[in-house]
Amino acid sequence: MPEAISGFSKLSKPEKIEWLLQNYFSNKETAHDILTRYWNSDKKLQKLHDEFIENTITNFYLPFGVAPNFLINDKLFTIPMAIEESSVVAAASKAAKFWYDRGGFKAKVLSTEKIGQVHFNFSGEFKKLNQFFQAVKPKLMSDTADITKNMEKRGGGITAIELRDKTDALDHYFQLHATFETLDAMGANFINSCLEQFARTLKREAEVYPHFSEEEREIEIIMSILSNYVPNCLVRAEVFCPIEMLKSKDITNPRLFAEKFKQAVRIAEIEPFRAVTHNKGIMNGIDAVVLATGNDFRAIEAGVHAYASRTGQYKSLTHCSIDHGIFKFWIEVPLALGTVGGLTSLHPLVKLALELLEHPKAEELMQIVAVAGLAQNFAAIKSLTTTGIQQGHMKMHLMNILNQFEATEQEKAQLIEHFKTNVVTHSAVVSALENLRQ
Ligand code: MEV
Repeated sequence: MPEAISGFSKLSKPEKIEWLLQNYFSNKETAHDILTRYWNSDKKLQKLHDEFIENTITNFYLPFGVAPNFLINDKLFTIPMAIEESSVVAAASKAAKFWYDRGGFKAKVLSTEKIGQVHFNFSGEFKKLNQFFQAVKPKLMSDTADITKNMEKRGGGITAIELRDKTDALDHYFQLHATFETLDAMGANFINSCLEQFARTLKREAEVYPHFSEEEREIEIIMSILSNYVPNCLVRAEVFCPIEMLKSKDITNPRLFAEKFKQAVRIAEIEPFRAVTHNKGIMNGIDAVVLATGNDFRAIEAGVHAYASRTGQYKSLTHCSIDHGIFKFWIEVPLALGTVGGLTSLHPLVKLALELLEHPKAEELMQIVAVAGLAQNFAAIKSLTTTGIQQGHMKMHLMNILNQFEATEQEKAQLIEHFKTNVVTHSAVVSALENLRQ
């Protein structure tokens, strides 16, 4: 075990690597080779990536793929996706083409409200605190004028501030609960700056509020931070068609397919064990686009799963109906996304991804991302209720297994051909490769 190190972040990149090699790796040469092989030969580009975080020692690649043929509100998109899971882009592309032939996806932003809170302790009655809050509210707004000026010019800003009494749950605990419109920005910095100013104003004004006792004047700010739970930053995406139109190469009995599909979605609506996997499949699509477009996928994940549990039970994010012979499948999901700020103007691939999407506004990106989630879920449920998931999954995984055994290009070509008509399993691939090599 190495000794703790102080001042690690101050070391140069080669020094950091040297420390790691000395302390953790038996084959130093191999480790050094792997780390440095991923460095970009373009020094400026490498520096850009080095400076995204602290202690960068190399780059971690994820495949950046594209799924074409997404018809969304009658506009055609090729969607960029950054993801390592082999079947995701293939499934998205398949679902996109399937629905392209049936009128495409319809998507609509339902709301765009962002939320932030100042959490604080106050020793006194809510009524008195509320009188103070009403008196100080104009100051809360005017003190943030410098921060909100530009956002307001574009039509955004702080939309409301409320005082909330949380003492039922926690002694002395109150909140300023504020809502924001951040337009094309995800808005984290904007919101957090406003909140920290609210906190300063609140504290300063309480200290001189004439109707407060000495104790009441001592408002204790605990923290000021945006919420990643954004149930009113919602987008809806859907597909629909007459049941008969579902007929295709792998759907020979569309009525049976539609009923089974609907039942699979119902199961995810009532059974949390299934709902989590169902939603995980949706997030395969959502995260991949969120990542490719430089957005914060952890924030999206946290918000989406909280939304899926909003009734007290974790449930499916998608729903399905069959009415008067029409099959309909839809998603409603909270997505606080940005197309300006953050990585969007910094990371060359993110810029390229946004250009590929024809420079969407945040609301358009919300629609695209929701559609990617819906398409992914459609593809998963279609496979699950027909062929089973492994057929497609293992077909895509075949290349990973072949690479693991360092198959040559010729071996790959032969085995891909072989497995067009044979079931792919790990052991089947290994023995087919052995046969070929004998
Ligand atoms: C795998 O990454 C995702 C699925 O498990 C989703 C699902 O079961 O719906 C296939």
